[in-house]
Formats: sequence, C-alpha cells, structure tokens
Amino acid sequence: MCAFDRPRKWAVFLCPFFLIEERFELSHHHKVGVIGGDGIGPEVVAEALKVVAASGVALDTVDYDLGGARYLRSGEVLPDSLLEEIAGLDAVLLGAVGMPGVPPGVLERGLLLRLRFELDLYVNLRPLEGAGGDPSGIDCVVVRENTEGSYVGEGGSLRKGTAHEVATQGSVNTRMGVERCVRFAFELAQGRLRRHLTLVHKTNVLTYAGDLWQRTLDEVSVDFPEVATAYHHVDAACMYLVGSPERYDVIVTDNLFGDILTDLGGAVAGGIGLAASANLNPARTGPSLFEPVHGSAPDIAGTGTANPLAAIRSAAMMLDFLGEADAAARVAKAVAEASALTGTTQQVGDAVAERV
Ligand code: IPM
Ligand code: MN
Repeated sequence: MCAFDRPRKWAVFLCPFFLIEERFELSHHHKVGVIGGDGIGPEVVAEALKVVAASGVALDTVDYDLGGARYLRSGEVLPDSLLEEIAGLDAVLLGAVGMPGVPPGVLERGLLLRLRFELDLYVNLRPLEGAGGDPSGIDCVVVRENTEGSYVGEGGSLRKGTAHEVATQGSVNTRMGVERCVRFAFELAQGRLRRHLTLVHKTNVLTYAGDLWQRTLDEVSVDFPEVATAYHHVDAACMYLVGSPERYDVIVTDNLFGDILTDLGGAVAGGIGLAASANLNPARTGPSLFEPVHGSAPDIAGTGTANPLAAIRSAAMMLDFLGEADAAARVAKAVAEASALTGTTQQVGDAVAERV
C-alpha cells in the first residue's frame, strides 16, 4: 500500500520509498506455509512447488507437519501456537488431509474449517474450467461462501442413543457474511468478459436464508449496473451444470451448496484431478489458503498416479493473489499445454515446469 492514505505532507516524502518496498515485497518475499498433509497431499504439493520455482518466483516456505499422521501420533490437530504462526504468513499451500483411523470431523472441523474460520477466509473461489481442449464448454467460477451456513456447527443433539433422539444442524447466514461474499462475486463478474452472475440457492424452501441472499444480491446489484444477474435453484443448477454449463459465468452460493456444486462442476470440467481452489481473505488481514478440491486418496498414495494439476493450478491462484500475475498466467498456460500428457505425478509436474 502506498502512502496515499497518509497525511498529504508525508505522502510526498514517503511515497517513493513505499513503492520501492512494495515492489521488492511483491517479487521476493512471499512467506508461504506448506501443509503437505496426508496420502497424495505431499506428492502433489511437491510438484506444485517445483512449478512455482520454475516460474521464477522465489518463495520462503515453512513446512507444517499437520494432518492425520500427526493426529494419530500425538493427538494434536492444530496447536494454537502454530495457528498464530500461520496467521503471520502471506499464504498457505495445502495438499490434502485425511487418513484411515481418524474419526470423521476431527481434521475437517479441527484443521480445515478452523483455518477457514479463524483466518476469515470468507470466499472459497473455485474455477470450473477444463484444461486445454476441454469439450464441455464450461468456463465458470464459483464463489462459495466459506465461513457461515451449515458449516458453523450450530445445533446439537438431545436424548442421544435413545429412540427419541433429536439432532438439529442449523444454517447461519449473516447480512455481513452474505454481503461481503456477494460483493466479491460482483467485483469478479465485473472484470470478466461476460459480466454475468447467477445466485444459486433454494429460496423456494429455505425461505429465511434464501430471502436474505436474494435481497442482498438485489441490493448490491445496484452498485454493479453492468453485471447481469440470474437466479437458479440448486437442484436445477446441478442439471444445467451437466447439460449446458456454458450458461454460467460467475456463480455465487452458500457454503454447503457450493461444496456440492463444485464437486459436480469439477467432474464436468475434466475431473476432480484438475479442480483448484482458493480460500481467500480478500481483506488481506492475514494469509489466504490454496488447495486442490480433491482429498488425500490414501489408496493411491505412493503409487505415482496422483494427478498434480489441481495442486499446480491452486499454486497458480496463489501466485496471482500474491501479485505475481505474470507467473500465474504462465503456469496456467503450461498446465493447459501439458494437460493432455499422461505420466507419473512427477513426470506431469516436470512437463508443466518445463513449459512455464
Ligand atoms: C472441500 C471439502 C471440505 C468441505 C471438507 C473436507 C471439510 O469437501 O474443501 O470441499 O466440505 O468444505
Ligand atoms: Mn467438498
């Protein structure tokens, strides 16, 4: 940030120095936490880092041993001291976490969701686009709300284990949370060729939350007169994503719908092995986190058959967010060129690295 928002008399003196510092900052000093995780996670992350190095961007990386293996060894999921350290970084690159023997929810809630919530990564940005020669015609980005909805853990159970057991799981939607996400989606759509934004929800059944989303979208749309908007129910959107995905440009949706829709969309756009994601803190009050949409696939770990392209694409999104737009574009282009090749995880990584 330049000194423009400082008092004027200082701006004259400070601005050139701040500009120099900023340039230096942008090209050399990205502190990136690396969480390889479990299963194929470390394998695909290694290829992503190889490609970043080939792009000419130097990262100061710090490795974090987090995930299922650490949990099984020590019972620790995310020690507070590590979270604090991670909060001071510029970005985090994560492979995948999860392995047999870890009960459901431990790593999801304790690591992934904790990072999303505590670092305020309120946008989960998931491009749905094939890589080179993709016949589906899909070229869309999903803006998934990432800190609210049914992911917050609101609810509980009563009379557990009895015939009268009750379980509730609420969906929390705040005006602030919905609005900042919707605004991000409008800004994104505004900068794209088609300038089209579709809200996906279930307003006909989830009338309270749906009403808040729809009204917020309508109100924010006044600030973006060039962006055309549409609304689709989530069930219809699933059908359209498969049958006529070209109708979508930017989609904005809540946390759970976005989770489901992006696995479906990933499958349509060439498979989950290509699907990248960025968990963004657009306010930049802390690091953003970049990870492939896929999981740790323990069944194929160590076989060299994992596709590293989703991790490499996630790293490209990281470069872009860190201000390295040129390197990010070169990586994206190299992925498109290399995507038709087959080979081991390392060979595919090498092929992309050679083309960057
Ligand atoms: C994803 C994953 C996570 C989610 C899980 C692992 C908590 O499915 O990133 O899409 O549901 O968000
Ligand atoms: Mn998911």
